[in-house]
Amino acid sequence: MNMSKMSKNMNKSKTMNKNMNKNNIYIETYGCQMNFADTELVMGILKHQGYELAQDIEDANVILLNTCSIRDNAEQKIYNRLEHLKGIKRNNPGTVIGILGCMAERLRKNLIEEKKVVDLVVGPDEYRRLPEFIDTAFAGEKGIGVKLSRTETYDDIIPYREDGLNAWISVMRGCDKFCTFCVVPFTRGRERSRSLDSIVSEIKQLSERGFREVTLLGQNVNSYSDNGSAAGGDFADLLAASALVDRSLRIRFTTSHPQDLSDKLLHTIAEHPNICNYIHLPVQSGSNRILELMNRTYTIEHYLDLIERARKIIPSVSFSTDIIAGFPTETIEDHLMTLDVMQKVRYDGAYMFKYSPREGTKAFAMDDDVPDEAKAKRLNDIIELQQKISFEINQQQIGTEEIILVEGPSKKSDDFLSGRTDSNKVTVFPRHEEIKVGDYVKVKINRATSATLFGGLVNDKL
Ligand code: SAH
Ligand code: SF4
Ligand code: F3S
Repeated sequence: MNMSKMSKNMNKSKTMNKNMNKNNIYIETYGCQMNFADTELVMGILKHQGYELAQDIEDANVILLNTCSIRDNAEQKIYNRLEHLKGIKRNNPGTVIGILGCMAERLRKNLIEEKKVVDLVVGPDEYRRLPEFIDTAFAGEKGIGVKLSRTETYDDIIPYREDGLNAWISVMRGCDKFCTFCVVPFTRGRERSRSLDSIVSEIKQLSERGFREVTLLGQNVNSYSDNGSAAGGDFADLLAASALVDRSLRIRFTTSHPQDLSDKLLHTIAEHPNICNYIHLPVQSGSNRILELMNRTYTIEHYLDLIERARKIIPSVSFSTDIIAGFPTETIEDHLMTLDVMQKVRYDGAYMFKYSPREGTKAFAMDDDVPDEAKAKRLNDIIELQQKISFEINQQQIGTEEIILVEGPSKKSDDFLSGRTDSNKVTVFPRHEEIKVGDYVKVKINRATSATLFGGLVNDKL
């Protein structure tokens, strides 16, 4: 998953001066897409309760940080941010500052005790109670809500989304996999799925509002299961039902765990033209010994076999992955096996990380014995190899024609438009008056870097 930090503006309309309105709320979101989707849920809950959403942090009297705990540097970012927010609070002592998300769950009351600037700490399963906590904070009391739930899916909450092209939909919450390095099962609790019916009706509404792409989210979407409703079904059923809502709506999904990816799912992707032929399939390591220590529950042989089956069933499928460098006891040989698996699979893209010990996980009890320089060197090898592979794969695209969903002007110049291929590659091509955001166009690729494809419009009508 994309771990980039982004802040979220919450309201298009002008908000009132904070002295005039007690409840101007501003949220910053960090971490994975699940957190971004949760921020929309939180905004839905708060809007419903009559809170105003502030455009700028300066206009807000409630500042919420939706946080991530996945690696130490994710948490350090929040600590730095809290230092900055101290200044805001000094100028406006009435400002309420709250921590949501995974750090709320991991650090709980420590956050309030150690970081005096924090007024409320609310974990991912307690967002319904957020208005209550905010009111308490205004009354001068600190509040903590960090109970995890086995059933909360926020199925009935309508997320607050600005108009756009791509919408994120959490189809399940939590994770039961307990990979030994990972905090998510502790910060997000047990795995539970939303109902298929409610997801499909949300997709219908999004399609009517003009969205052109939805991404179904879960830590392990392959274990999605709706046993409750009449429609019922597993993740393949959910994907098929989602794809049928609107054939011009692209369906993406993330993340798949290699243990649970079924042939039925692969066939479903192949059968529906609007389900993108792109699978994010984290491998983590190329060494079976390390995979076992990580409790990943598959071997490299199983993984490679899965890749081969997927390529047979969906000939144009592409893959991305997550890789961790320097897990405890990882040797140079283990590391070379990771490079080897990258060469065998040839991923289109990868998210690559240095191992970061997380208190409370099983791996935390193992000695973090790979020195930081070795981790950095290995990570660098991995990144270099991936860049080379991405570059080569993109060179092979030259001369091919791709269907692009147009997203807007390119980052570097308004004379160019940018969009994505089915396999999620950013593609840049010259602007054309008749082409609008949300259109599908055919582009012939004539140049490529490791990150971007460039091309010209093909004049066929789509
Ligand atoms: N549910 C997804 C990913 C969740 S976290 C999955 O199963 O793959 C995203 C990625 O962060 C993980 O795939 C892993 O590569 C990385 N990650 C998780 N914990 C980490 C840690 N302690 N140190 C370094 N990377 C970690
Ligand atoms: Fe973490 Fe593993 Fe669950 Fe992914 S599958 S969220 S890595 S425990
Ligand atoms: Fe996501 Fe970070 Fe939590 S990756 S699930 S926000 S720990």
